[in-house]
Amino acid sequence: MLHDQPIAYLNGRFLPLAEACVPVLDRGFIFGDGVYEVIPVYAGKPFRLAHHLQRLANSLAAVRIDDPHQADEWTALIDELIRRNGGGDQSVYLQVTRGIAPRDHRFPEDSRPTVFLMSNPFRPVPEAELRDGVTAVTLNDIRWEHCHIKSISLLPNILLRQQAIEQGAAEAILLRHGQVTEGAASNVFIVSDGVIVTPPKGDCLLPGITRDLVVELAMEHALPCEERAIPEAELRRATEIWLTSSTKEILPVTRLDGIAVGDGQPGPLWQTMIGHYRRFVDALRQEA
Ligand code: PDD
Repeated sequence: MLHDQPIAYLNGRFLPLAEACVPVLDRGFIFGDGVYEVIPVYAGKPFRLAHHLQRLANSLAAVRIDDPHQADEWTALIDELIRRNGGGDQSVYLQVTRGIAPRDHRFPEDSRPTVFLMSNPFRPVPEAELRDGVTAVTLNDIRWEHCHIKSISLLPNILLRQQAIEQGAAEAILLRHGQVTEGAASNVFIVSDGVIVTPPKGDCLLPGITRDLVVELAMEHALPCEERAIPEAELRRATEIWLTSSTKEILPVTRLDGIAVGDGQPGPLWQTMIGHYRRFVDALRQEA
């Protein structure tokens, strides 16, 4: 960081994060009426930016908020935010709400979207978690039917994550109608009979950028990989379980509901995949 405090962006202005304020009538505050992205930054470069911007455009279209920027404008804003926060590894948070209006459920006719970006330090997953894996618990997926939208209305996700933590776990793996959907803030992969499996995209889960890259890397390196439904029983007999997200990359789960996954250690396919992932990131780091 160049400054003693992080620099944010709000509606056309870069400013210290502590000075960034939105009026209480912002529909993000009143209704959770908005969408967001979390974009990892390695060596000053936003990772898979085109994918994140496409998902942002999809989320905005799905909730009928006019996209306030073209892709090249978003790119310039994000690059400038990264630069003002000193480059290196960061995690950019970007949020767009429907804007400020008197409280009324119906869409306001003339509000302008609120655009907010901030940068957080990229905190690598602690070595111990990579060495030993983490614990997960299964919980009932209590969320709505549009989980493909990256909505800021995260109350169910928060309650589920908190419940997992209070049960001594790092993440909740969610089940809906007897099938795995995703984690409270991550996508889920399993290894079943030597095959990497992840649920197909649809409205039950967020189309994770990390998830898509893991599927791509599996194909590129000829690792068996399927996108199909995972019944609860298959989750429970999986030899490996992984969680993926922009902030946690690929995290091995070694205990599920108190029972060891496979031999209770991060599995061989995770070792292979995290190697491919790191090399992919390192190649980006090397680019001029
Ligand atoms: N969350 N599913 C949910 C519900 C998520 O919240 C996330 C990420 C993912 C993984 O998506 P991606 O690989 O694009 O990060 C899946 C972010 C990191 C967050 O809310 O902080």
